[in-house]
Amino acid sequence: MASIARAHPNIALVKYWGKANDELIIPVAGSMSMTLDQFATTTSVELATGNDTFELNGTTADAKATGRTTAFLDVVRSLAAEAGLDTAEAHAKVVSTNEGPTAAGMASSASGFAALATAAAHAYGLDLSVKDLSRLARRGSGSALRSLIDRFAVWHAGTSDETSYAEAISAPDMAMVSVTVNTQAKKVSSRDGMVATRETSPFYQAWIDTTVTTLNEMIAACAAEDFTRIGQITETHAHRMHAVINATHPPIRYLAPVSWQVFEEVTAMRDDGLEAYATADAGPNVVIICRPTDADAVAQRVATFGQVNTFLPGPGAHLVDVA
Ligand code: DP6
Repeated sequence: MASIARAHPNIALVKYWGKANDELIIPVAGSMSMTLDQFATTTSVELATGNDTFELNGTTADAKATGRTTAFLDVVRSLAAEAGLDTAEAHAKVVSTNEGPTAAGMASSASGFAALATAAAHAYGLDLSVKDLSRLARRGSGSALRSLIDRFAVWHAGTSDETSYAEAISAPDMAMVSVTVNTQAKKVSSRDGMVATRETSPFYQAWIDTTVTTLNEMIAACAAEDFTRIGQITETHAHRMHAVINATHPPIRYLAPVSWQVFEEVTAMRDDGLEAYATADAGPNVVIICRPTDADAVAQRVATFGQVNTFLPGPGAHLVDVA
């Protein structure tokens, strides 16, 4: 019997960059995101004998991805053991498909671990609340915990496994227009980039301090349903994240020249009265936030810079079927 779950990627408006605890994935500061309505990952988990297996998009996953899946399943098994379940020793067959184009760089590890946490918890017989599922998903990839939540999520940084979790936050309706730019830039993983930043960036403590303040400002802007303030905070904060990363040694640059061109174009949109703000994760792609009614106009303005997709707030991870 397989347990099947579906989850969508999320894009942070207040970013997570840096861990206080690498093993438990406790962040140095909280963050806030929008869950997307497209590019879902669907994952099925079936208990099996023999080793854990992981199939991704129709082929056997590579050793690194399989190792991360097994390490995650070990966390699930330890929870099953704590709960006294007889599944605690079981291995699993994991089959996962991503609807988003792999090259789009739209946080497939977030949707992947959110779907895996939801499906695996069910398969192993764990009865977890959304909060506890978010804590579990966090162990696979930090940002994945936010994909448990419908529409908009806050990750409370906490200081322990118990206190580091995601919950919903209400925010005004908005759209995200992603621009997947054409670049051959070699990517340093978020995981490695965070360690390099902690170890070599002289601005790291300032980044932590400012992110704590920024998240509080963002929560206040959401409560006030102040889209303009939300956008301003998002764009400034994205620049601060890239600044602390750029200050590593040796330097890490995630943004490409064309990424900066998209940021320039977004500034030009605002000058023209089209209200939009931009952010970017650990890569060259840019995500623009705007009001849903402006999404088509924004998409047209950036069409020449790369592949453009428009998203609205989407659902949190959920079980879809139990066959
Ligand atoms: C820039 O969640 O991928 O997208 O916890 O090491 O798996 P790990 O990192 P990950 O980092 C995401 C970083 C980011 C910002 C964000 O999503 O908040």
